[in-house]
Formats: sequence, structure tokens, C-alpha cells
Amino acid sequence: MPNLTSSNCFLLEGVYKKTILLKVKMQNRSHTNSNVLIRILKVYRFNPEIDSKPYLVIYPIFTTRIDIYRRGPMLLDDLNYIHLRWHGYKSISHRKSCREGICGSCAMNVNGINTLACIYTPDPSISVFTVYPLPHMPIIRDLVVSLKHFYLQYKSIRPWVQSTKYVTINKIKQSKYDRELLDGLYECILCACCSTSCPSYWWNTDTYLGPAVLLQAYRWLIDSRDENTVQRLRTLNDSFALYRCHTIMNCTQTCPKGLNPAFAISKIKTLIHQFFNSDE
Ligand code: SF4
Ligand code: SF4
Ligand code: FES
Repeated sequence: MPNLTSSNCFLLEGVYKKTILLKVKMQNRSHTNSNVLIRILKVYRFNPEIDSKPYLVIYPIFTTRIDIYRRGPMLLDDLNYIHLRWHGYKSISHRKSCREGICGSCAMNVNGINTLACIYTPDPSISVFTVYPLPHMPIIRDLVVSLKHFYLQYKSIRPWVQSTKYVTINKIKQSKYDRELLDGLYECILCACCSTSCPSYWWNTDTYLGPAVLLQAYRWLIDSRDENTVQRLRTLNDSFALYRCHTIMNCTQTCPKGLNPAFAISKIKTLIHQFFNSDE
């Protein structure tokens, strides 16, 4: 990914000055239908097909109360607004689907924190927001990154119930207790916010599975319906796939769903320790 430096930042100077003036002018006005500048978004832009370097563009976000009612208060609504208002090369590419924090498509970095744009409410006391794609991922265009490698890693942990019972019956009962063990794990939407905030994942992307995939691996390890626990533990017992985690905890701090991948990783390590110790 090309580096972004102050020398290659492109700012819409004219628009910027105009919006600042407008902001001052509008501060004391209370007309509900007036266009009011509520914040400024500095958005990362890069199209590998035509740009030699990435750059930032400043987008002023104007609104009225009627607008807010129509288009919603989230950061994703601001990006949609930019997408509609600025056409052609000034528009931005970004992913979205559910608009409810369920699909994980709209993951991006806002003011230095990985989050989901559709459930991120911009703080009204902050006037400038910087919006970058997820860090250390190959850029496809603007805020859209390639998650191909991330999904291949997910596939490598065989994320499904492996059970011979499924061959003869299509339902396997689970006790209430066993089902509750999956709480805090099954909610993961694979948005990659945690993995792309992890320094160990940045430097060892090819070999380290990263917090999201390891949380999923733990989810299948403790599923009472799965019969392949031993093989799963053997595969995970690898100095790169698992033990690149150094408990930095960025993953847990950034997860927009409030999950704890670092805890799941420590549980895998404990299980491996118990399994191989008792095996000897
Ligand atoms: S653990 Fe949280 S941050 Fe990581 S992929 Fe799952 S939902 Fe996203
Ligand atoms: S706790 Fe482990 S997985 Fe989470 S950010 Fe730190 S090194 Fe990465
Ligand atoms: S659009 Fe689905 S999580 Fe944001």
C-alpha cells in the first residue's frame, strides 16, 4: 500500500475555506431548513488504475433537520451523502449492505479507530473526522480493501460442525449450558476490524491467523456438537498461526461488537497446553 504523506495530500482548498466561513456564519442561526455545516470528513482516496499516490479529500457535510430525518445520523449516512452529492472522480467507493452492524461490510478506520461506519455516530462536539480504509490491507479503491487472504485464512480453520452424526441425523441436540458457551463468540461478523488493528497481524499476515480467525477457531473448538477437537488443536498448535499473539489487546479494544478475541486466543493456548501435557 503506498504511503500517505502530507506532501501528497490533496485538499479542496476553496471548498474548505468556504465551509469554515459558512460554519461561523451559521452558528448563531436556528432556521430548521437552512443548510448547516455539521462536520468535515477527510476521506482517503486512491484508485490504483489512475493515481500514482493516495491523497485525502475534504468533504463538508451540510444538513438540515429534515435531511437528518431522511438520511440518518451515522457516519455511513455521511458517506452515502457524499456519494450522491459528488459525482464522478469526486465520489467515493465504500462497501455497505445491512446498515445494522450485521454484515461487517462497512468496516473502516475513523479517527484512528477501526469501526463499522453504519453504527458509528459522529460525536457532535468533533468537527473533523478522518476516514481511512482498514489498515495494512491491499487497497482495491478508496475505502474498499481486499479481504481475500482474510477469508482464505477463515476457510483454513474449517468453520463448520464436523460430526459423523450429521450423516445419519440432521439435528444434533445441544444442552442449554453448551449453547451458552458460544455466547460472546457466535456474534462475530468477520468485519476484520480486530485483525487489521493487530500489529502482529500487520507484520505476519501470511502466517499468523489473527484475532478474528482465532476467535472463530475457538468458537468451533468448544462447540459440543463438533467431534474434531483434537485435529483442530493440532492444526492450531503452530508457532506462527497462533503464537504470534503477544497480548497487545488492540483487537479487544477495537471490536465494534464488544467481543474479546484476545481472551479467546488465551483459551486456545490453555486448551493446547492441557491437551499436549496430558498426551505425554
Ligand atoms: S471479533 Fe469483533 S472486530 Fe473481530 S471480526 Fe469479529 S466482530 Fe469484527
Ligand atoms: S491480543 Fe493478540 S491478537 Fe489481539 S491485538 Fe494483541 S497480538 Fe493481536
Ligand atoms: S453495513 Fe453491514 S455492518 Fe455496516
